[in-house]
Amino acid sequence: MSYTNLLVADDGAIRVITINRPDQLNALNRDTINELDGALTEAEADKNVRVIIITGSGIKAFVAGADIKEFAHFSVEEGKALSADGHKKLFTHVERLNKPVIAAVNGFALGGGLELAMSCHFRVASETAKLGLPEVGLGVIPGYGGTQRLAQLVGKGKAMEMILLGSTGMIPATEALQWGLVNHVVPAEQLLSTTLELAGKIARNSPTALGAAIRAVNAGYEPGTNGMQREIEEFGKCFGTADFKEGTMAFMEKRKADFTGS
Ligand code: COA
Repeated sequence: MSYTNLLVADDGAIRVITINRPDQLNALNRDTINELDGALTEAEADKNVRVIIITGSGIKAFVAGADIKEFAHFSVEEGKALSADGHKKLFTHVERLNKPVIAAVNGFALGGGLELAMSCHFRVASETAKLGLPEVGLGVIPGYGGTQRLAQLVGKGKAMEMILLGSTGMIPATEALQWGLVNHVVPAEQLLSTTLELAGKIARNSPTALGAAIRAVNAGYEPGTNGMQREIEEFGKCFGTADFKEGTMAFMEKRKADFTGS
């Protein structure tokens, strides 16, 4: 599939999806969200892809938010549909993908950009990255999961403060690291190589177990779902997989497990 607003490239088993609207600081317009939906579906279906990295093109921005120019004249109903459609196609889609998705945050991650990074399974940031939720200064609130996922990641008090401060609540990567909002901060020129290295280590593990782990962890954050019960079910299902046979046999045979065929 070819894309107008994305660059898609593989590094071995790692698919790197780069949001490519640098002159608009990679703002998420409708077309870009639709393309990301397609690229994620494609990556999930491709057996050769084991881990996905999402990043932004250029040195300035990961994603500077939802495209303000596109929604500036929306009605109440259009606003609600914008949020619901984005949740389904992109943010919940990323969060529930059965392959690990890592955000490589290369600059501004604002509004929908931070919400996209937070939907990923974890985040690596460059020293130059800045993160924030400026929406209240525009007369709206974070509408792509920010009110929920930020509180889950950093706690309610810090989330409230960042959201209520709007653009003045933006924080540098080093502070985001202290908050636990990002997992690693590296010099800008090492961002992709560090993220690829982490992705490569993850990619050597069992893909069926990776998918099960993502579902089990996510379950703890789904209202009405019993996370422990889901863990028990997912754990049990692993015993029926070829990956489990290979992983445990490899341990007993004192060799490295080989999941390349799975
Ligand atoms: N939506 C649409 N366009 C955006 C955008 C967004 N969220 N963020 C940046 N852009 C566009 C600008 O309009 C500008 O385009 P133009 O040259 O056609 O006018 C271009 O990207 C460059 O941005 P600019 O504002 O000139 O860069 P800057 O260095 O002066 O400021 C930011 C950088 C990130 C501080 C500033 O762009 C900004 O505040 N963006 C909006 C952030 C936001 O509120 N996000 C939440 C949206 S819900």
